[in-house]
Amino acid sequence: MTSLAGKSVLLIVGGGIAAYKAHELVRLLKTRGATVRIILTKAAEQFVTPLSLSSLSGEKVYTSLFSLTDEIEMGHIQLSRSADLVVVAPATADLMAKMAHGLADDLASTALLATDKRVLAAPAMNVRMWSHAATERNVESLKHDGVSIVGPNEGEMACGEFGPGRMAEPNQILTAIVEMLKPRAQPLAGKKVLITAGPTREPIDPVRFISNHSSGKQGYAIAKAAAGLGAETVLVSGPVSLPIPPGVQVMPVETAQEMLDICEGEIPVDIAIFTAAVADWRVVTESSEKLKKTGGAAPNLTLAENPDILATIARSAKRPRIVVGFAAETEHVTEHAVQKLEKKGCDLIVANDVSRTSGVFGGDRNTVHLVSVSGVEDWPNMSKDEVAQKLMERLAQMLVPQQKAVE
Ligand code: C5P
Repeated sequence: MTSLAGKSVLLIVGGGIAAYKAHELVRLLKTRGATVRIILTKAAEQFVTPLSLSSLSGEKVYTSLFSLTDEIEMGHIQLSRSADLVVVAPATADLMAKMAHGLADDLASTALLATDKRVLAAPAMNVRMWSHAATERNVESLKHDGVSIVGPNEGEMACGEFGPGRMAEPNQILTAIVEMLKPRAQPLAGKKVLITAGPTREPIDPVRFISNHSSGKQGYAIAKAAAGLGAETVLVSGPVSLPIPPGVQVMPVETAQEMLDICEGEIPVDIAIFTAAVADWRVVTESSEKLKKTGGAAPNLTLAENPDILATIARSAKRPRIVVGFAAETEHVTEHAVQKLEKKGCDLIVANDVSRTSGVFGGDRNTVHLVSVSGVEDWPNMSKDEVAQKLMERLAQMLVPQQKAVE
């Protein structure tokens, strides 16, 4: 039985019939030695009482954002940050919608917005509410924001319907909590990882540019995984609309030349991963004025090839110990990747199919093939986060072979 002594959990109880299971969850957490602070939403107070929960937790139960005595004892910001983990159980449809949209109109939602800790949500709602498109969107947003979800289970519901929507049982939630509170292996502590991501923008005139459809999602996921394994992580990013992953230093750039300059300034590094979809060409002379239609001939744009950032860094005197390239191909994916490995001087190519039907551009999933001198390894279709985690664990093992990447 893993002890949770010294760990502190902030349990946020939403207003649903499953709130009664919070008692058992608190009891289990206390048995393991955890400190449990509890926030009840207004609706939750209809199902459970602060008195019963504080008797079990041995702590004061918090209910109101505007209670002066609560704020004096422990401000809502401190309440959300003093915990090692925030658990929302039951996470009702309403509470999840608030979390997904960043609403903060009561103590529970304010604490959830103010926390800098990992969050685990145990959804509980009617089966139709769970399968509603709005809830599906909210769950996707929450996962995207890094919230972990446990359950819901399938079964008979309090309302008499049957299907998924029952809150995970307290012991299932406890298992997820123990997993999340496990000390994480940091095989890349003391190492520096450089990642490029997103598209580049090559200006034509003050309002137009050449670019591409890269969303930056795979590169951002890799940066998040690298930081999670303890690396000092620098992400040189073209224009994307993605949140900055925790613990990652983002250097925003526009053009390929700017991306190269920043990368050259960041080496030496231990690992460099080039996921950016760098524009192949730039316009030789950017017009300082907006180009105007003349009613006649279209302007002639003279293009020049951009520097190859990956090849430049891979061949520099300060070459990183491991250089990884990406190969976005629409046909003969692995054959082209094998050629690229040689041509660009990298140790590993992550090849993926970006043909229109693959859904890779902008999507959340990826099917990749790892190409190195020792051969080709086909990975199954996975989320971009899973690809990132697996890739970083592999690179960590290559860099520090004696260490096991993840325990
Ligand atoms: O040659 P191609 O664009 O297919 O190569 C893809 C790989 O090279 C990716 O890892 C990409 O980030 C990198 N690259 C680069 N600079 C360029 C072009 C590609 O770093 N100018």
